[in-house]
Amino acid sequence: MEVKPGRRRVLLVPVPAQGHISPMMQLAKTLHSKGFSITVAQTKFNYFIPSDDFSDFQFVTIPESLPETDFENLRPVLFLLKLNKECQASFKDCLSHLLLQHSSDISCVIIYDEFMYFAKAVAKEFKLPNVIFSTTNATTFFCRAVFEKLDANNVLSPLKDSEGKENELVPGLHPLRYKDLPTSKFAPLEKTLELYRSTVDKQAASCVIINTASCLENSSLCCLQQQLDIPVYPIGPLHMVSSAPTSLLEENKSCIEWLDEQKRNSVIFVSLGSLALMETNEVMEMASGLDSSKQHFLWVIKPGSIRGSEWIEFLPEEFSEMVSGRGYVVKWAPQKEVLAHHGVGGFWSHCGWNSTLESIGEGVPVICRPSSSDQKVNAGYLDCVWRIGIQVEGEVERRAVERAVKRVMVGEEGEEMRKRAMCLKERLRASVGEGGSSHKSLHEFVHFIKSL
Ligand code: UDX
Repeated sequence: MEVKPGRRRVLLVPVPAQGHISPMMQLAKTLHSKGFSITVAQTKFNYFIPSDDFSDFQFVTIPESLPETDFENLRPVLFLLKLNKECQASFKDCLSHLLLQHSSDISCVIIYDEFMYFAKAVAKEFKLPNVIFSTTNATTFFCRAVFEKLDANNVLSPLKDSEGKENELVPGLHPLRYKDLPTSKFAPLEKTLELYRSTVDKQAASCVIINTASCLENSSLCCLQQQLDIPVYPIGPLHMVSSAPTSLLEENKSCIEWLDEQKRNSVIFVSLGSLALMETNEVMEMASGLDSSKQHFLWVIKPGSIRGSEWIEFLPEEFSEMVSGRGYVVKWAPQKEVLAHHGVGGFWSHCGWNSTLESIGEGVPVICRPSSSDQKVNAGYLDCVWRIGIQVEGEVERRAVERAVKRVMVGEEGEEMRKRAMCLKERLRASVGEGGSSHKSLHEFVHFIKSL
């Protein structure tokens, strides 16, 4: 790659997972269009292989010697703790090398995913400006910032006991209940807190950028801005700013042709993101509920997402019977295109932040089935704040699935949610459009990093 002299370079450090790589690459494209040179530093995990759309970018690998299986086996929290320890020294070498190579650039700014905090320590050592990029949202960021305080006051105890207090509202975080707080179901609370403590170091960074818009979470953004003494820029949703392809897996486009044959708003799209892990009995309950709802459904079952099965080959025979009538099952879909399709009237989602933004961005109401971390916060907001979603809690059970699908797809309640979702979609469009709040915020952020 030819180095253009005199351009300011940003070095981006994404978390190696689909839900984090996508917004980071969307940010990269956006900054490139504003005149920045781009370097992306990745580890071997979930390596993003750039298409021609990224031909002007430099991609470098941060060497590490973690076992290939760590990503799958340790699930996010423990994996991230280990990855951060492992990468600090090798990232330092990587950065020294890059700085020598790019000595003709004016200077370098490091933008790291909030969970790749080893980059912050190294940036500090090199006295380089650095920016925290939150690929989740302001509310989750704020929750994490207050987590430590809550823990100190032992207010987190409702999460640790079994007296049903997890249904109580958390003081100051209305409408979130204790059980909605962004804890991980795959790691002990202490480890999750250790990770969060490491991400919140407001002294080290120059500013924070968040993939959100003020029309979605104005009060959380205000609280966060009060809590942090560095600027906070809500610059999202970035998928509405950049359309570059960012999928790690091949998308099965045949589902779009299938959708073309369906009536307007008649299909429920089922997709649980890139990290979901389901038990066979849950999949069977889902299939049965979807079947008896009598709605058409497009279901993404990612290979490896059913425990003990490569894909769907070990499921009982009734599975095929239940999905073959009104259903269409794929391994990976072009999700944004699917949500934008007129045939789709509802989204059964795990409420990852990207899926949440993509659904709102197309005015599609959501059946919320969060599994872990920020997904629970997002579900709470979809249901209680934006009122464009319903939550399905407890065990997955066929009748509950059927009821939820009917509530969203048939009748007045679903129609009202769809109307509210369409309003929110317009507000999001306005945010990223000329003169909108995210558009202005992005402009201010660019100005800010140019001034560093
Ligand atoms: C993870 C966390 O789970 C999530 O809570 C956090 O907010 C981001 O990191 P993930 O679980 O993968 O992400 O969910 P999500 O944030 O929704 O991202 C999934 C991405 O994969 C979305 O951009 C979605 O469009 C894409 N996708 C999903 C596809 O392109 N095709 C599919 O078939 C399914």
